[in-house]
Amino acid sequence: MYPENVTVINHPLVQHKISMLRDIHTGTNEFRRLTEEIAMLMGYEALRDLPLEDVEITTPLETCMTPMIAGKKLAVVPILRAGLGMVSGILALTPSAKVGHIGLFRDPETHEPHEYYCKLPDPIDLRTIVVTDPMLATGGSAVAAVDFIKQHGGKTIKFMSIIAAPEGLERLSKAHSDIQIYCGHVDRQLNENAYICPGLGDAGDRIFGTK
Ligand code: URA
Repeated sequence: MYPENVTVINHPLVQHKISMLRDIHTGTNEFRRLTEEIAMLMGYEALRDLPLEDVEITTPLETCMTPMIAGKKLAVVPILRAGLGMVSGILALTPSAKVGHIGLFRDPETHEPHEYYCKLPDPIDLRTIVVTDPMLATGGSAVAAVDFIKQHGGKTIKFMSIIAAPEGLERLSKAHSDIQIYCGHVDRQLNENAYICPGLGDAGDRIFGTK
């Protein structure tokens, strides 16, 4: 039903927490906490293919070979500003991951995204990079962010959003068929203002209590 590189994390805990996020009565504090928790639950699934290698560990009883995360290290790259809300949830799983940032603004005339800030861990080519943005709406920012990361040498890229619009999902999966895309729910459609419906409103405003 969805393109091959798309995984919808259809877990009851994720679905339940997304419903709470949607609720207009959910305040900033709870919204922030739920965003973190959902990111952590989604991260658990999205990182299930991290490679392992056996290392020697001495327990209080004996020395044994036991698996630990191998080779490729992680970078989390939030798209400013709403993507920031997901970072702590992923860092709860992978505390030593590096964190980069990408800031994009939309040209008011062309509607094309332009980079105003980009700071990535260097080198980035050997890292698994998790790009976060809670809302995958038109897909314009997501496509541009992944473009920038690839231009900086990023190779293994996972994109994580909590809610996706079918339009954005299609655009991102077509533009970057070599990345893995994870979302918690695919909503009905975008409205004329490029908001996801039913959605949850402006994720950045709800995370940061602005508006
Ligand atoms: N960004 C948001 O925060 N919400 C939407 O519905 C679409 C884009």
